[in-house]
Amino acid sequence: MISPDIRNLLARTSPEGGVTAQGWVRTRRDSKACTFIEINDGSCLRGLQVVADNSLSCAGLYPKILTGASIRVMGDLVASPGGKQAFELLAKDLEIIGEADPAYPLQKKGHTTEFLREIAHLRPRTNLLGSVFRVRSRMAHAVNTFFQERGFFYIHTPIITSSDCEGAGEMFRVTTLPQGSTAKPEADFFGKPAYLTVSGQLQGEVFACAMGKIYTFGPTFRAENSNTARHAAEFWMIEPEMAFYDLEADMTLAEEHIKYLLRVLFETCGEELEFFNKFVDKELIARLQHTLDSPFQRVTYTEAVDLLLKSGRKFEYPVEWGQNLQSEHERFLAEEHFKSPVTVYNYPRSLKPFYMRQNDDGRTVAAMDVLVPGIGEIIGGSQREERLELLEAAMIAQGLNPETYRWYSDLRRYGTVPHSGYGLGFERFLMFATGVGNIRDVIPFARTPGHADF
Ligand code: 4AD
Ligand code: MG
Repeated sequence: MISPDIRNLLARTSPEGGVTAQGWVRTRRDSKACTFIEINDGSCLRGLQVVADNSLSCAGLYPKILTGASIRVMGDLVASPGGKQAFELLAKDLEIIGEADPAYPLQKKGHTTEFLREIAHLRPRTNLLGSVFRVRSRMAHAVNTFFQERGFFYIHTPIITSSDCEGAGEMFRVTTLPQGSTAKPEADFFGKPAYLTVSGQLQGEVFACAMGKIYTFGPTFRAENSNTARHAAEFWMIEPEMAFYDLEADMTLAEEHIKYLLRVLFETCGEELEFFNKFVDKELIARLQHTLDSPFQRVTYTEAVDLLLKSGRKFEYPVEWGQNLQSEHERFLAEEHFKSPVTVYNYPRSLKPFYMRQNDDGRTVAAMDVLVPGIGEIIGGSQREERLELLEAAMIAQGLNPETYRWYSDLRRYGTVPHSGYGLGFERFLMFATGVGNIRDVIPFARTPGHADF
C-alpha cells in the first residue's frame, strides 16, 4: 500500500503502473551510478526520494537541478532499501519545470525564524512553516465543523464599521480623504468616521438575537502599539454568540471548543505534531494531551488575585484587586499554579467594556478569560448586559454616546434575552497547538507595528 504522504506527492499514476511526481527540489546528491533528489510539494511534511540513474537519457539535466528548482519525474515507486523512507521513486525520465537561481535562500535547513520572516514569500516551503500552515488550514476547517455540527450559523460581519466594539480606541481609520485633509467626517466616503473592525461581536449579537446561535470567523484589526510575541495588528477571531446562554454555559462551550479542536489536531495533524514536538517544543504533545484529558480549572478574578498575592512570587507588575492581570500573572496561574488551562471569571467592571453584564455585587461583571500555559489569554468573553437601563448607564460611564449605539440597545428594547459569547484568537490558539512562540510565525504575512511587507 502506498502511504498517504507519498500519495499526496504523486501527480498521477499511469495505467501501465508507472507514476508521476512533481515538486520542488530540497536536495540533490550525486554518486557514481546515480543521483538522489529529494522533492517535496508542500502537501505533507515528508518528501519523496527520487533515484535517477546516470545512464538515463535525461542525465544531462542533473547538474541544473538545484535546490529550489521545480521538476517532474516519471518512474516506478519501489520499496526503498535505505530504511529512511518506505518508498522511493526510481526515475525513468525527468524534466525541469523551473530552474532555481543558485542564490535561492533556502539552501540548507536550520534558518532562524527571524530570517525566515524576511523571506515570507519563500518560507512556506520550509518544513516548519509548511507544517504550521497545514495545521492552520485544518484547524480553520474544524472551527466550522464544530459550530455547524452544533447548529450554529456562520455570519459574516462587516470589516468596515463605525462602532468601536471594545471601546479601547485601538481602531485603524478607513478614509478616502487626502492626507492632511481638514475636511469634516461628513465629507468622507461613508459620511462619518469609519474604521477597520476590532471585533464582530456587536453585529454578531444582532444575529444571535434573531437566529439563536451564530459564530463569526474573520479578520480583525487592532492598532495597539504592543510589539510582543502575542499581538498582531491583523489577526483572525472566532466569535460565537448565543441567545439564552449565561456565563456558565459560555465557559462550558469555550472548553468544549478548544478540546474539539485539539482532538481534530491529533486526528489530522499527527505528522506535524511530531515535528513540532521534536524541533519546536519538547513538551508540546504532553501539554496538549493533558489539556484534553483534564477539566479546565475555574476561578473568579478575586480568587485569582488572592492566589497571586499568596504565591510569594515577585512579579514585575504589582498584583492588586482592580488592576489588569498581566501576562506574567496569567502565565503563573496556568503554568505554575494550575498547570492546565484556567478560566478566570467575574472581573472588575472598571477593566471591561460597556457591554458586559453587571453582577449583583455592583463591582464585577460576568466576564471570562481562558488562560493557557505558554501563552496566557487565548479567549475573552462574557455574558452581555441584557437590561436596557444598565447598558445605557455603562455606555455613559465609559464616555460613549448611547445614540451611536441605538441599534445595539434596540436588541434590549424589543424582546431582550440573556445572551453570551466569546472571542477565540485564532493565532493564539495556533501558537498553543503548535508550540510556536511568536504570533508572526503562525500567520502567513504578519502585520505588526512597523511591518506590513508583502
Ligand atoms: O478579549 P478580546 O479583546 O475580546 C473581544 O474582542 C470580544 N469582543 C470577544 C467576544 O466576546 N465576542 O479578544 C478576544 C481574543 C483574545 O482572547 C485573544 O486571543 C485575541 O482575541 N486577541 C489577539 N490576538 C492577536 N493579536 C492581538 N492584538 C489580539 N487581541 C486580542
Ligand atoms: Mg481580552
